[in-house]
Amino acid sequence: MNMVEIIGHKKMGLALTEEEISYFVKGAADGSVPDYQLAALLMAIRLNGMDHEETTALALAMTRSGDTADLSRIPGIKVDKHSTGGVGDTTTLVLAPLVAACGVPVAKMSGRGLGHTGGTLDKLESIPGFCVTMDEEAFIRQVQNIGVAVIGQTGSLAPADKTLYALRDVTSTVDSLPLIAGSIMSKKLASGADAIVLDVKTGSGAIMHTFEDSLALAKTMVEIGKLAGRPVEAVITGMEQPLGTHVGNALEVKDAVDVLAGRTRGDLLDVSLLLGAHMLVLAGAAKSTEEGKDRLMRALESGAGLEKFRELVTAQGGDPRVADNWTILPQAKVVRQVRVGRKGYVQSMDTTLLGLAAQGMGAGRVKKTDTLDYATGFVLPVRIGDQVGPDDLFFTLYARSEADADRAEQAVRSAIVIGEEPCQRPPQWYATVTSDGTVRKSK
Ligand code: URA
Repeated sequence: MNMVEIIGHKKMGLALTEEEISYFVKGAADGSVPDYQLAALLMAIRLNGMDHEETTALALAMTRSGDTADLSRIPGIKVDKHSTGGVGDTTTLVLAPLVAACGVPVAKMSGRGLGHTGGTLDKLESIPGFCVTMDEEAFIRQVQNIGVAVIGQTGSLAPADKTLYALRDVTSTVDSLPLIAGSIMSKKLASGADAIVLDVKTGSGAIMHTFEDSLALAKTMVEIGKLAGRPVEAVITGMEQPLGTHVGNALEVKDAVDVLAGRTRGDLLDVSLLLGAHMLVLAGAAKSTEEGKDRLMRALESGAGLEKFRELVTAQGGDPRVADNWTILPQAKVVRQVRVGRKGYVQSMDTTLLGLAAQGMGAGRVKKTDTLDYATGFVLPVRIGDQVGPDDLFFTLYARSEADADRAEQAVRSAIVIGEEPCQRPPQWYATVTSDGTVRKSK
């Protein structure tokens, strides 16, 4: 067996055998297969897909490509959460402190930006001093001490995903159901959590744009969890527009702090409460998601969530003043306010284009080796369905230069449709998938 044959089989649309899948996954993990062959195979998988058996074999081989964390020394049921990725999708920064403040341990391994979507690690690293690398021992100790830690995948967990994730980001092979399912489930199974909540996004800014594709992805990941003996609940939520009003790394930290401080309400808070409530239910800390949301809201209103965020930042070497003063975050050279310029209703957004606009400003990577500009991005206060007038603030750009701001202004404006007709706000929640079946929003 060799890589040329394996690539050739997938190029012809054949199903790969378990041995072939294990071969290339091992090669991705130990570096014995070069990036160019992996990239070719990723593109063949993206174009020709994988059947159910191949997808499961891929997720399990990727899980076996490294160690599995042993979190058994942390008392209680450890529930992890993972999003398929979105724009302004900062739920981890909101829900991790809130869930921990409710007494449920959060031992979270997060990722970096992928394609047009942002990544929790990049956002946290925008906080001066914040460190996302830690060995397993230190990770466990921190969760024992303060109830929460958010780190990058340790070197030994799902190493195949580390390689494949970075390659997918720069080869336009992110939007592939088997590759997403393998990537997410391998990390979550290897991270040692007892139960997993998945936030599967749907809409123009999600990796999967249609509800049907998002549902298929959710069902596949729940099924893989079941085979691996781990309860998994997938919540399908909307990504027709950025979840929070802020897009960009430091800006999203500010957005999360504003939510935790009770200054901002809206979709970011609502979806964080929904996902956090599922975590509390799976951990046995709430009987229903309604009770879970109430507990989380009490933690927010009492200030316990923001205090837990301060503890998290301090424990990981960051400057805790960020919880009270956002000017200690990196600041952009150019700040430009843009007015709507006409009257009407916000009809729709191409949220992938919005994510790409932020990426183009330096908030995301185009090449694997790119360094980010944490200060850049934009704040978009308008939501789909809003009525707007010519003098209303449309968005504020935070850019490296006037030329970047010019490009971004054009890109953001062209991604948002304003029309004459009133229109409805898109839903935040579409469906919940568990091993018992699917509950869908009624039409
Ligand atoms: N998040 C991941 O970890 N992997 C993906 O492929 C997509 C989102």
